[in-house]
Amino acid sequence: MEQLRNAFLKARYDLNFSSPLELRIALHPRGVMPPWMARKGLALCAPGFYSFRPRNGSGFVPGRFHTNMTVYDQLQTDLRHTPRLWLVTGVAGFIGSHLLETLLRLNQRVVGLDNFEAGKRANLDQVRTLVAPAQWAAFRFIEGDIADPAACQAACAGVDVVLHHAALGSVPRSIAEPLASHRANVTGFLQMLLAAREAGVKRFVYASSSAVYGDHPGLPKVEEKVGRVLSPYAATKAMNEVYADVCARAYGIECIGLRYFNVFGPRQDPDGAYAAVIPKWIAAMLRREPVRINGDGETSRDFCYVANVVQANLLAGTTPSEEAINQVYNIAVGERTTLNELFQLLQTGLRQRDASLPEQQPVYQDFRPGDVRHSHADIGKAARRLGYAPTHRIGAGLEVAFDWYRANLG
Ligand SMILES: NC(=O)c1ccc[n+]([C@@H]2O[C@H](COP(=O)([O-])OP(=O)(O)OC[C@H]3O[C@@H](n4cnc5c(N)ncnc54)[C@H](O)[C@@H]3O)[C@@H](O)[C@H]2O)c1
Repeated sequence: MEQLRNAFLKARYDLNFSSPLELRIALHPRGVMPPWMARKGLALCAPGFYSFRPRNGSGFVPGRFHTNMTVYDQLQTDLRHTPRLWLVTGVAGFIGSHLLETLLRLNQRVVGLDNFEAGKRANLDQVRTLVAPAQWAAFRFIEGDIADPAACQAACAGVDVVLHHAALGSVPRSIAEPLASHRANVTGFLQMLLAAREAGVKRFVYASSSAVYGDHPGLPKVEEKVGRVLSPYAATKAMNEVYADVCARAYGIECIGLRYFNVFGPRQDPDGAYAAVIPKWIAAMLRREPVRINGDGETSRDFCYVANVVQANLLAGTTPSEEAINQVYNIAVGERTTLNELFQLLQTGLRQRDASLPEQQPVYQDFRPGDVRHSHADIGKAARRLGYAPTHRIGAGLEVAFDWYRANLG
């Protein structure tokens, strides 16, 4: 309430109105519009935005709230006062465990579903140490498979919002085992979506991927312009978007897809054949092993720290805006880093922490089949419709990641 009061005091508007009416809008930054507002010609759009029909004018005039609080700040305050029941699938994985941690810190109740195909009990154990005992008590874990309808139904009971993240990641894995990817990522996805609908879940947020842009050459990537997909993994994520779209229309369940661009952060697995580049290279450098670059190193990515992804999920899971739902959004930072630049960032950052680490040159090897050459997101749509504003650029995210890997790598 204190934060809301501050927002109220600091509010100023694009439009030069100062009547009590507009100030009362600021007390509803999440777009909770009481009937009296509608009667007075007010309409709330995306969180943080409003539109207003002047008494002597015709048509709505759009505007945006300006306060020191971001939409996400306001949402977090709001959630603490109105806890919900969230289902996080893939909760023992990298992103899932961060969703769990943030939701529990915000005093939400969480059901988690995972079959430990790729996730780890250690991730859940770590979250337990990071939240208060009472917050941990609000978490119920179900060990189960998303391709099993009974597990999906058990997990969805009474849930307000699903954050669906269980899937088999990795482009090379999908090329090696396309049927396994299809089973988890398409059959499992549809089972979850149908179970959510059956249970009366209102909002279904799911992890899509920048891989759906395939061979489309345009940069930065905008949501409407996709090319032909280049791997079975990308095909499964494209199918997710098709099923979400059709289930929204056929069954009325509200779906939001988030196309992640190379997420990184603590608890991302550095080991195994399908590890992502940042944890893999950090681990190699800390273990004093050579770093291998696929291709010439000029391949680029929009690396996104995991806190930004958590923010996007919470915004998508709660937005009241009609124009925000049944859409897909790029979730990234909106900046491009080549693999050669990444190598330098990691080497410099780690050697600043431990000068005994050897300075090394990367070993260049063949390009990897199925990889797109450049990836760079336009995040304007998520900013406008969800109020998404990334809090961490690559450098800030790497600072956190370095310390975590140094403390946790065995
Ligand atoms: N990490 C990224 O850069 C990135 C980029 C784009 C999209 N995504 C998507 O985000 C989601 C989460 O990715 P992540 O990086 O946390 O991966 P992760 O492998 O760490 O987590 C996925 C979790 O899903 C679980 N899982 C897999 N198959 C399952 C099944 N059949 N039933 C139940 N649980 C199952 C795994 O055990 C694991 O805990 C995935 O859908 C992934 O495709 C991730």
